[in-house]
Amino acid sequence: MKVTELEVRNFRNIKNAEIEPHSGVNVIFGENAQGKTNLLESIWLFTACRSFRSSKDNELINFNSTKAELSMDFSAWDRVQQAHLEIGEGRKFLLSGIKKSPTQFMGEFLAVVFSPVHLSLIKEGPYERRRFVDTAISQLKPKYAASLAQYNKAIQQRNVLLKDLVYHSELYDILDVWEDRIAFFASEIIRQRIGYINKLSQYTDEIYRGISSGKEKLSINYNQQTVVWGDSREELYENMKAQLFASRKNDIICGYTSVGPHRDDINVEIDGLIAKSFGSQGQQRSAALAMKLGEAAVVKSFSDEQPVALLDDVMSELDKSRQNYILNHIKDWQVFITCCDPSAVEGLKTGKKFEMKNGKIY
Ligand SMILES: Nc1ncnc2c1ncn2[C@@H]1O[C@H](COP(=O)(O)OP(=O)(O)OP(=O)(O)O)[C@@H](O)[C@H]1O
Ligand SMILES: [Mg+2]
Repeated sequence: MKVTELEVRNFRNIKNAEIEPHSGVNVIFGENAQGKTNLLESIWLFTACRSFRSSKDNELINFNSTKAELSMDFSAWDRVQQAHLEIGEGRKFLLSGIKKSPTQFMGEFLAVVFSPVHLSLIKEGPYERRRFVDTAISQLKPKYAASLAQYNKAIQQRNVLLKDLVYHSELYDILDVWEDRIAFFASEIIRQRIGYINKLSQYTDEIYRGISSGKEKLSINYNQQTVVWGDSREELYENMKAQLFASRKNDIICGYTSVGPHRDDINVEIDGLIAKSFGSQGQQRSAALAMKLGEAAVVKSFSDEQPVALLDDVMSELDKSRQNYILNHIKDWQVFITCCDPSAVEGLKTGKKFEMKNGKIY
């Protein structure tokens, strides 16, 4: 997947900018608040996902305009396509001149984004890591998103019921029904998460080894708060049901469901130590980056196309050898990197540099 041309109009502080990116590394440098992240964001929107920095579309339109227009030529699956996106009253996608709904457009252009907000993957609690894995699986298997929604709904129902059980013991029959549903969806969620993390960790292992010049090892493992074991979906289902049954007394006292995949975490360890608690700034950034690039590698294994990597402000806090890996060793990918200090990209061997100044490209 390669962007061959990009034109941005009235998007945030960018009134009009055109670039012809390199098929490898593209560096966008400039002082703070010039529009570097805005440019990456404009490319990201062609994935038809929400923006990685704001949820409101009207924030994306330049203050002095009523419509933002983005056009991009990109090559994928051995053909070149033209994509056009207008953001005004809603979003309008055109693919080679044909109107598409956002859902139809999704999957046509693939990208992964890494921005400083993604450091939460390492620094924050289990929710962020579960969300990362759940979103990644949902994009590959839309049925998974439906199972997850059903699971969460069933957990909520059980939680409501737990509070009423104290006064109404006849509700135990209904509890059985919800636990059965929870176990059914939980078995699918656990199985898919384990499968995804196994695959992801093969890639992150290799990427992190590259970033750290072979000096450190990153391991990523599924960490179940209460171990629900089983090799098959049936075994997981039976075991999950047993766990729910066993935790009833405790859960009635607490008023919530204490077992199940909604409580699980993903352990991210560098040389055997949890990155959240023991990782240095550079190690945490490297680990989050490896997870994002690993996510792209998994997408490639499913789709046969390498997503475009959008790396916002990734260079800061990394030493020269780590920067060098990012600039010169991410092979066969198109990468867009933003940075303030152009000296951080002195080591760039092949690629293009663009200066962003007050919303204009030089
Ligand atoms: N809808 C909008 N219309 C006009 N300007 C906007 C709009 N939205 C954001 N901006 C402006 O865009 C400017 C540049 O934002 P951007 O985040 O791209 O900067 P940056 O070059 O990445 O800076 P940094 O190096 O600090 O990350 C901000 O100063 C912001 O005020
Ligand atoms: Mg920025």
